[in-house]
Amino acid sequence: MLKNIALLPGDGIGPEIVAEAVKVLDAVAKKYGHTFHYTPAKVGAAAIDDCGDPYPESTHKICRDSDAVLFGAIGDPRFDNNPSAKVRPEQGLLKMRKSLGLFANIRPLIMFDSLLDRSPLRRERIEGVDFVCVRELTGGIYFGRPQGRSEDGNTAYDSCVYTRNEIERIVRLGFEMARTRRKHLTVVDKANVLATSRLWREVAKNMAAEYPDITVEYMFVDNAAMQLIQRPKAFDVMVTENMFGDILTDEASVISGSLGLLPSASVGSEVALFEPIHGSYPQAAGKGIANPMATILSAAMLVEHLGMQQEGQDIRNAVSQAIAEGIVTEDLAEGGKAYSTAEVGTYIASRI
Ligand code: IPM
Ligand code: MG
Repeated sequence: MLKNIALLPGDGIGPEIVAEAVKVLDAVAKKYGHTFHYTPAKVGAAAIDDCGDPYPESTHKICRDSDAVLFGAIGDPRFDNNPSAKVRPEQGLLKMRKSLGLFANIRPLIMFDSLLDRSPLRRERIEGVDFVCVRELTGGIYFGRPQGRSEDGNTAYDSCVYTRNEIERIVRLGFEMARTRRKHLTVVDKANVLATSRLWREVAKNMAAEYPDITVEYMFVDNAAMQLIQRPKAFDVMVTENMFGDILTDEASVISGSLGLLPSASVGSEVALFEPIHGSYPQAAGKGIANPMATILSAAMLVEHLGMQQEGQDIRNAVSQAIAEGIVTEDLAEGGKAYSTAEVGTYIASRI
């Protein structure tokens, strides 16, 4: 197969981890006789430095014209806590998600047997954990207007806004995904406080009638945060709004042993985008210590999305092998030898 892949490394550790995913994709292409044609493009602080726009039109065009997008991370401390910054790198990520119509972010929790004793949770609690968070990605408080400051600077406001349509399409995706799995859907909201959450619950309840085969559970987000740690095995598919999903998936990553392991797929109306759930980890940038596995596993989701199932499985197996063999970066090394970002990527590519 010939596939065009847009590469958006972004900021911080982004370029390093995307480079390792490319090594692995190249190994897959070689083994299976595919051709992956990569087109790099700038996003985030890298794009602001270049042209003042964190998601320029040229990048958008490259994404739209590709079969899939592989994205690294966004964020740069130069812009954090800097009230005078007019544009922020994160705006590029939000603009990218919005303009590519990527309304659903699918975050599977991946467990590796060889890491069961590395998790801060006891083995018996996490053995066999297998769930997917379906996070709404282009609405809610991330995008709601008005947002800003009062003239005197002493009041700030964000708005959480959802339309019925926006909720319907993401909740439906949750139901459909549950159907392909263990047929259990947890709808996470804060319906005891928020009007948007009450609309979520209303939409989900109406839709549940169309899915009599699915067991639906409604859970407040604070309770979900607790249950994730207390009985993570109870979850199958979780569907939630943008910010709750952001927070709960960082929390969930701890179960797997490292935030550096969790991949994601963002899908919607146009081209799909694949990205690790972690951020740009600026303190580690350029040091060769970042874990490339979340991005490599995102590349596995990417090839699977393009119909290459065996290729995706090969990548997952190679990552498992690296973990089992202890070819891991410092976040997973726990006293053992820590390998560099590039060494881990090279090893995984060699296992393909
Ligand atoms: C994520 C990140 C982003 C988000 C940030 C960088 C804007 O935390 O993808 O989870 O909040 O969506
Ligand atoms: Mg996040």
